[in-house]
Amino acid sequence: MNFSKVILITGGAGFIGTHLVKHWVRTYTNQLVINVDLLTYAGNLENLRDIENSENYKFIKGDIRDADFLAQLFIDYPIDSVIHLAAESHVDRSITDPQSFLETNILGTFQLLNACKNAWKDQTSGKLFYHVSTDEVFGSLGEEGYFTEETAYDPRSPYSASKAASDHLVRAYFHTYHLPVVISNCSNNYGPYQFPEKLIPLMIRNIIGMKNLPVYGDGKNTRDWLWVGDHVSAIDLIFHRGEKGETYAIGGHNEWQNLALVQFLCQSIDKKLGKEEGTSEKLITFVTDRKGHDRRYAIDATKLKDKLGWEPQISPEEGMVKTVDWYVENAEWLDSVTSGNYQEYYKKQYQD
Ligand code: NAD
Ligand code: DAU
Repeated sequence: MNFSKVILITGGAGFIGTHLVKHWVRTYTNQLVINVDLLTYAGNLENLRDIENSENYKFIKGDIRDADFLAQLFIDYPIDSVIHLAAESHVDRSITDPQSFLETNILGTFQLLNACKNAWKDQTSGKLFYHVSTDEVFGSLGEEGYFTEETAYDPRSPYSASKAASDHLVRAYFHTYHLPVVISNCSNNYGPYQFPEKLIPLMIRNIIGMKNLPVYGDGKNTRDWLWVGDHVSAIDLIFHRGEKGETYAIGGHNEWQNLALVQFLCQSIDKKLGKEEGTSEKLITFVTDRKGHDRRYAIDATKLKDKLGWEPQISPEEGMVKTVDWYVENAEWLDSVTSGNYQEYYKKQYQD
């Protein structure tokens, strides 16, 4: 089959990557989608079963830190564009094991930028390096205000510092080598296939298993939650219509204090499982706060709305209900991803 374009998606077996790969494979059937993923504890090919045999999809296990692997990949395939998601993504892990975050998020991004620069040379027409980044690079907000594209960088965890460094490298390759790039900084995503170390799937898993629900600090830290499908639609739009060298902030205008969100999950699941009201809320346990815990994130996505017409399509209520339903109905997915290679990785990292 002759493809009109070859798109490399890194980290396509992770949470957001799963949704992005499925969207791209199904929407752009004349493009070849290559998914490069190292399959760490966070990557799971089971998520992609329903598209794995598509003619325009290819999975390659590989490490973005490996310059030789990347150079060969660009020789083997005429890659036109890269959408780069592969990363170590969990803040708590970055506090106990910062080095792997620096290696994957900074050096891995650097190797990928270099591979593009070497392969594309000055032939950059129709090429794009899209870096999927986070709002955490902007630091922490007080009770008022929003992050925008103009907010000064102020990363405060090893994770956010590593993502900030990778954003800077992407911009440096734009200015120094004229590599065509675009960056988006998104708020907290939620939806199916999120690894249950992150707040929402972790709480749902513990509610189902009647285990303690560990809320950090006073539970008043606030996050701006976005349905993962709305993030994917923003990426698609920015990929096709975003201006080279520009940054776009993506958010849901959907702020929840952590405690309120956990209480909502308790109530929804009690209702869904026919349990007496208040059963799961009794499991809420306030625990020692995360070190350096950012207080509040919130995005003003006006630029994306005004320039490209993007707005979230799924309301917070609809998204949360869909999410709870999916995890309750796919409880075996929660069990399967927390066994196997996760167990191995977890044992190695934490000697637990
Ligand atoms: P995830 O942890 O679920 O997935 C990361 C994927 O990267 C995994 O499949 C993993 O196997 C792969 N990977 C890790 N190291 C690799 C390496 N060296 N080589 C190749 N693959 C490797 O992460 P996610 O939540 O899907 O996030 C994806 C991207 O989006 C990340 O860059 C993250 O910083 C960014 N982001 C996430 C959110 C969010 O709320 N989850 C919000 C904004 C931005
Ligand atoms: O803002 C975007 C970022 O959102 C992404 O860049 C990160 O990859 C992603 O992990 C996420 O980071 P957070 O640290 O905000 O997400 P997490 O789900 O880990 O935590 C959400 C909030 O819930 C945070 O305030 C910490 C709190 N929390 C988390 C866990 C895991 C708890 O209170 N208890 C918990 O057990």
